Amino acid sequence: MILDACCGGKLMYRGLDRQFNDDEILFVDVRHGKFSYKHPKYPKTTIVQPTVVADARFLPFRNKSFNLIIFDPPHDQYGKRSYMALRYGSLSDEEYELLLWHTDLEFYRVLQPKGILLVKISGVRRKTTLEWLTHFKMLLDNAYWSKSYHCRKKTHWIHLVRK
Ligand SMILES: C[S@@+](CC[C@H](N)C(=O)[O-])C[C@H]1O[C@@H](n2cnc3c(N)ncnc32)[C@H](O)[C@@H]1O
Repeated sequence: MILDACCGGKLMYRGLDRQFNDDEILFVDVRHGKFSYKHPKYPKTTIVQPTVVADARFLPFRNKSFNLIIFDPPHDQYGKRSYMALRYGSLSDEEYELLLWHTDLEFYRVLQPKGILLVKISGVRRKTTLEWLTHFKMLLDNAYWSKSYHCRKKTHWIHLVRK
């Protein structure tokens, strides 16, 4: 069973998530609803429709429930009404560290011993992320330059396993 702990609008799946049933992948997000914004290029509404509305810091699941956890938290702090905040959420550095502190423990609890934690994160928060996920060790780090118009930052896909 796969857990997407911060699923947002599921945009990164480009529709592939529809191939999976509810007993194969479980989508969680703390938000639920339609978030609209003004933007010249991208869709004006993001629909956040998780299977379970929950806070990744306190997951309502049993120990060792998942063999893969996908974690794509807000990558930075943005203006409250900005396109980025409405589309992807926004966390200050302090809020992000608190999220990591809790999710380190929660992911360790709900992940199976040989499971994988797959973290998608901007280069800006890579170092902090690895420092706070103390129960995990890195296996691979794939990075690419974001093509998005608003930033030229690296996006990392980091594979971690339990220590
Ligand atoms: C970068 S977006 C995810 C984008 C998504 N992967 C996609 O493909 O569109 C981050 C998401 O994390 C959610 N989030 C922030 N804090 C959270 C928390 N404590 N628990 C669960 N979800 C959270 C936000 O609501 C936001 O939708």
